[in-house]
Amino acid sequence: MTDTQTQTKLKIFSGIQPTGRKTLGNYSGGFRQYAQTQEVGEGFFCIVDLHSITVDYDPDELRSSTLDLAAMLFATGLDPERSTIFCQSHVTAHAEAAWLLSSVTSYGQLGRMTQFKDKSENREFIAAGLFTYPVLMAGDILLYQTDVVPIGDDQRQHLELARDVAERFNYRFGETFRVPDGQYPEIGGRIMDLQEPTKKMSTTMSSEQGAVYVADTPDQIRKKFKSAVTDSEREIRYDPAAKAGVSNLLEIMSVATGETIDDLVARFDGSGYGDLKEAVGESVVALLTPIRERFEALRADERELQRLLAVGAEKARRAAEPTLELMYDRMGFVRPDAGRFFGAARPRGL
Ligand code: AMP
Ligand code: TRP
Repeated sequence: MTDTQTQTKLKIFSGIQPTGRKTLGNYSGGFRQYAQTQEVGEGFFCIVDLHSITVDYDPDELRSSTLDLAAMLFATGLDPERSTIFCQSHVTAHAEAAWLLSSVTSYGQLGRMTQFKDKSENREFIAAGLFTYPVLMAGDILLYQTDVVPIGDDQRQHLELARDVAERFNYRFGETFRVPDGQYPEIGGRIMDLQEPTKKMSTTMSSEQGAVYVADTPDQIRKKFKSAVTDSEREIRYDPAAKAGVSNLLEIMSVATGETIDDLVARFDGSGYGDLKEAVGESVVALLTPIRERFEALRADERELQRLLAVGAEKARRAAEPTLELMYDRMGFVRPDAGRFFGAARPRGL
C-alpha cells in the first residue's frame, strides 16, 4: 500500500466503558459494529476508563472490568493486527485534549445532555466529571481525525456535541479537525430491557432479569427470554415506535441471526408469544456461546491482555500526537520542543 492510500483510509473510532458486565445492547450497538467496521478502514477502539470514574465506582472493580472488556473486544472479533485496541488512560493526549476543548464547549449545551440529566437525577453527589464527560468523548474522537464513529442510538447527542466542538474549534483557531459522522445500526441501535421494554437495556440501570449479558450461560439466557415481558394484543407485529416487548424481541432475533424483521414476522405469523420467546432465546444462545468461550480463554491470560494493550497504546500515542500538537500550536501555546512537528508531517490533509 502506498503512502497516499494509507493516508486516505477511512478512520474509525469508538469507545466503550469498562463498567459492569457488558450487555446484548452493547453487542448490538457496539461490539458488532466494531468488528464490522474494522474491515473497511483503520480502526481505533478505546476502553474509556477515564469516563468510568464520573459516577460512583470501585477501584478494584475498575481494574478487573478493564481486563474483562479487553478480552471481550478480542472475543467479539477485533483483530489486534489490523486495529488499534487500547486504554484511554494509557494515552495522555486524551486528558489533555479534553481540557483544551473545554474552551470551545458550551456550558449550556452540556447541561442539555440527556445522559447527564438521567445519571445525575436523585443523586446526592454529582461529580463535575459527569457534566464534562462529553468533552472528553469529543477529544477521544477528534484526536484521531476520525471519519466514522460506530455507536448505539443513546450516543447521538454526544456525537452531535463532538461535531459542534470540532466546528467551533476550526472556526476559532483554523481548520484542525475532521468533523466526524456517527454510524448507527439500522436494527438494534437501541435494545430495550426485557422486563421494562420502555427503557434501554443498560449495564448499570437494568435489573438482573432485564439485561442479557454477553458472558451469560445458555441457561441464564433461556431463563431471561422465557420471562421477557411481551405485549397485550397477543399478536406478533413490529412497531419500533411503540417500544413494545415483541418488537424488541424481533430486533434481538434479527441481530442474532441476520434475518430481516419482515422474514421473522412472516415466520412467526400465527405463533404464540411462548414460541417466539423460545426461538429468540435459542438464537441468542447460538450467538453468544462461542463469544463467551473465547472470552473465558482470553480472560485467563492477563499478561497477554496487558501486552496487547501496551502495543495498542503505543500505536494510539503515535496516531494522536500530531493532532494534539497541532491543537496546542493553533491555540497559541509555546511548546517545549517547538519545530519538532511543524515543517514535518501534519495530520492528514492539514
Ligand atoms: P457503554 O457501555 O455505555 O460504554 O456503551 C458502549 C456502546 O454500546 C455505545 O456505542 C452504546 O451506544 C452502545 N449501547 C449501550 N447500550 C445499548 C443498547 N441498549 N442498545 C444498543 N446499543 C447500546
Ligand atoms: N460515551 C460512550 C458510551 O457511554 C463511550 C465513549 C467514550 C465513546 N468516548 C467515546 C463512544 C468516543 C464513541 C466515541 O457509550
